[in-house]
Amino acid sequence: MPSPINLLEYETLARERLPRPIYDFIAGGAEDEVTLRANREAFQRLQLLPRALADVSSVDPSTTVLGTRLSFPVILAPVALHKLANPQGELATARTAAAAGTVVTLSTMSSYRIEEVAAASDGPKWFQLYVHPDREITKRLVARAEEAGFSALVLTVDVPRLGRREADFRNQLTFPEGVFPVNYLGEAELDSLPVQAQGSVLAAQGAVLIDPALSWRDVDWLRSVTSMPLLLKGVLHPEDALIALEHGVAGIIVSNHGGRQLDTVPAAIDVLPEIVEVVAGRVELLVDGGIRRGTDVLKALALGASAVLIGRPYIWGLAVGGESGVSHVLSLLRTEFEMAMALTGCASVSEITPGLVRRPQAAP
Ligand SMILES: Cc1cc2nc3c(=O)[nH]c(=O)nc-3n(C[C@H](O)[C@H](O)[C@H](O)COP(=O)(O)O)c2cc1C
Repeated sequence: MPSPINLLEYETLARERLPRPIYDFIAGGAEDEVTLRANREAFQRLQLLPRALADVSSVDPSTTVLGTRLSFPVILAPVALHKLANPQGELATARTAAAAGTVVTLSTMSSYRIEEVAAASDGPKWFQLYVHPDREITKRLVARAEEAGFSALVLTVDVPRLGRREADFRNQLTFPEGVFPVNYLGEAELDSLPVQAQGSVLAAQGAVLIDPALSWRDVDWLRSVTSMPLLLKGVLHPEDALIALEHGVAGIIVSNHGGRQLDTVPAAIDVLPEIVEVVAGRVELLVDGGIRRGTDVLKALALGASAVLIGRPYIWGLAVGGESGVSHVLSLLRTEFEMAMALTGCASVSEITPGLVRRPQAAP
């Protein structure tokens, strides 16, 4: 099998290699998957209007986000249980992110412990938080991440309940032996964590581990228990972006959880401009969902994001080729992004401006 030449081909290969229920779990979205499809379609609908004669003999794709230098503006999104794709799991993805000069965001639901991942890589790492109903457990998770050298906290705000991913119910999803959210080991609740369920085991675990009572008060509380800068992930409403500013967040990740939560919400890239307008440069804005091409990254930056996150594509890389698969996925995307910069006339990331993107008028 020849080496994949783009991120989409990685998905095709991963599909052939992974057990069907695991592939479906990773690839799938909620209910009718309208939002899942919208994430891709929105990028394809946006057009680029390049500038000519810009001297792009040298192109620099590097940038800085929350004070961290990135070799290019693509960060690894938090994805649960990397061992589903490869036994090296998060150890491999964290090492690869560091080697590629970018940030990895470790999920609370990782299949290696916070401390193991920190020991595997001294590159920049963010920790994604699901708030447990027991705030003492939550506090210990946050303290462990800070202690282990994670440099930002990403609070996911779009999962008061786990979205209904019907494929997982159809497949009666369970995880292989040894693949579970180990960060809760040592906390009494793990003993009672369901490993089998009528329907999706993840939905059953989420119902135990994630607090549906999460509110803005918890955002203040979190800021009081950590000195890590706080980002909110999963904001779509401009009013929530404004409230987030009042609560002192350092950044917002505009996201619909890769189409896995509330179905029929818009593509994240389509709401980004409204959020850019209300936030008016006061905090960092990032976006994820459906980014598969270098031109997608460029469009997101042109519309006001300082960087993007990718989820599924690097997991496909992990499934196909372990550490080198993830590395290849990142290098393909980086090469495409550099090409998109050159062809739109941008020698540096600061030259990527809104005028490069055109939204075609809808037919009357
Ligand atoms: C298999 C899978 C597991 C995920 N687990 C988490 C998680 O634990 N925490 C979280 O905040 N987001 C999680 N996400 C959402 C991603 O962080 C990200 O928002 C999404 O994958 C971006 O869309 P993309 O996959 O199209 O790039 C998960 C996504 C997938 C596909």
